[in-house]
Amino acid sequence: MLRLRSGLRLLEASVRNHMTRTYGLASAMPFVKAVNDDVDVVYCKKKDENAGKDKLEKAAKAATSEKLDKPKQGSQPVRMKKDGDKQVGEPPAKEVAAKDGDKKDEAPKAKPKPKPKEARMKTFEIYRWKPGDEPKMQTFKLDLNKCGAMVLDALIKIKSEVDATLTFRRSCREGICGSCAMNIDGINTLACIQAIDTNVGRPCKIYPLPHLYVKRDLVPDMSQFYDQYRSIEPWLQRKDLDREIGKAQYLQSLEDRNRLDGLYECILCACCQTACPSYWWNSEKYLGPAVLMQAYRWVIDSRDEATDHRLCQLMDPWKLYRCHTILNCTNTCPKNLNPAMAIIQLKQLLAGMKKKPKPKLQTDLLFQNQM
Ligand code: SF4
Ligand code: SF4
Ligand code: FES
Repeated sequence: MLRLRSGLRLLEASVRNHMTRTYGLASAMPFVKAVNDDVDVVYCKKKDENAGKDKLEKAAKAATSEKLDKPKQGSQPVRMKKDGDKQVGEPPAKEVAAKDGDKKDEAPKAKPKPKPKEARMKTFEIYRWKPGDEPKMQTFKLDLNKCGAMVLDALIKIKSEVDATLTFRRSCREGICGSCAMNIDGINTLACIQAIDTNVGRPCKIYPLPHLYVKRDLVPDMSQFYDQYRSIEPWLQRKDLDREIGKAQYLQSLEDRNRLDGLYECILCACCQTACPSYWWNSEKYLGPAVLMQAYRWVIDSRDEATDHRLCQLMDPWKLYRCHTILNCTNTCPKNLNPAMAIIQLKQLLAGMKKKPKPKLQTDLLFQNQM
């Protein structure tokens, strides 16, 4: 027995040594336990884990009950209500019960429906013609509550929902491309930026641009206008363009550049062109305000070297001098430009009353550095 005990002690010591070396003293302790003199090696890790879990559960329970009992900081302490307790201003129990019963019976209130808007029916009278037919005005009625604000919105709505054969040009819908130019209520303008007159008692009358041949409905033939535009050579002309092209940039002072403001913004919609009485009567010979304004835009450009050639081209009793400064063109321009003023400037240059200012910067300086 004595030998067994000393053997077991030796075994305990060697286990303790091994565990201490491997895991450190603290972690070795729970693995070895001596009971009285009889050394009993107990693998007690699992037991300890369970004990730990129990402890944690107990602590959690204690914390939860503490939370429930403890009033929140800053809030009124909660007093457990006892029978017979009555708070000040509290309605009698019967009343409360009745009120609760009422609430239960009460159906949830439905939201009041918004009143349907009264229809605002607007009449649109639109010019219709196609080859082989007699021209006529066709009437359409639209509810303005269900239509966009601009005349082009109404046209698009009619085309998509009422009559798909209605023909008109449009592209950008924001006054940039110039394709939706037409005569609306007597004024040449762009349908996409022209608001519908909300007076429903007055019909909106829409025609193609006046004094142009019509291709169909609201689509005029613009070929003559484009031919006239081409005739003024609307591009930059230099004496030695072959040498310079693509090599560097042309220089232009701020002052010279500012001279192009109010000219380069023209979108060639032809609203002014077709509002000009002189153009109505002499459209084959007179260039018209839009084209003349573009002619002036290239004449006055400090980088352009064909000024004399351009002015000579206009030395004609018809091309320029049919303008009598009636100003219909300026009045109607939907981009708020002033073609009549451009024509006056051209006349002054031709008459020698003014001269084209010399460029403030040497235009081809950067090309010379390239050589
Ligand atoms: S100002 Fe000249 S271009 Fe303009 S509408 Fe009158 S005549 Fe035509
Ligand atoms: S000057 Fe005005 S109205 Fe005439 S084509 Fe240009 S943008 Fe249109
Ligand atoms: S759609 Fe382009 S200007 Fe009207």
